[in-house]
Amino acid sequence: MERTLSIIKPNAVIDNNIGNIIKMFEDQGLRIAAAKLTHLSKEKAEGFYIEHKERPFFGELVTFMTSAPVMLMVLEGENAVMKNREIMGATNPAEAAEGTIRKLYAKSIGENAAHGSDSLQSADREVNYFFDKNEVNSRW
Ligand code: CMP
Repeated sequence: MERTLSIIKPNAVIDNNIGNIIKMFEDQGLRIAAAKLTHLSKEKAEGFYIEHKERPFFGELVTFMTSAPVMLMVLEGENAVMKNREIMGATNPAEAAEGTIRKLYAKSIGENAAHGSDSLQSADREVNYFFDKNEVNSRW
């Protein structure tokens, strides 16, 4: 069993696709162990994406992630990190497989509908970055 962080990004929240995306996770065996709809501050978004600080798209990424609310979730289940990434599809929607979240709901590589932790190690950091221990309702 693993835990991973999922973020439904501003474009998908604005487009009313929160439910559609959650259904995809649940249908494929992931459980929602924690969730909150929140509007990120600039500081919180910058801290979350700190590893991308030197990238040319960092400013654009932070502006987008603070442009509207996001849905933060902890997903849990077998192979949750990889399973979440499979359900999301490739970062660039032009490369995302049919039926994935990004194929269905992303507009561009920036407005790509969802974020998911890329490893167990980043999942641990990312879950703890947004959630207190007592907010995560684990069933294992
Ligand atoms: P995410 O999984 O949230 O992690 C970092 C994000 O940076 C990524 O999804 C993309 O949305 C964004 N990103 C990556 N490359 C680019 C790019 N070339 N231009 C704009 N945004 C990008």
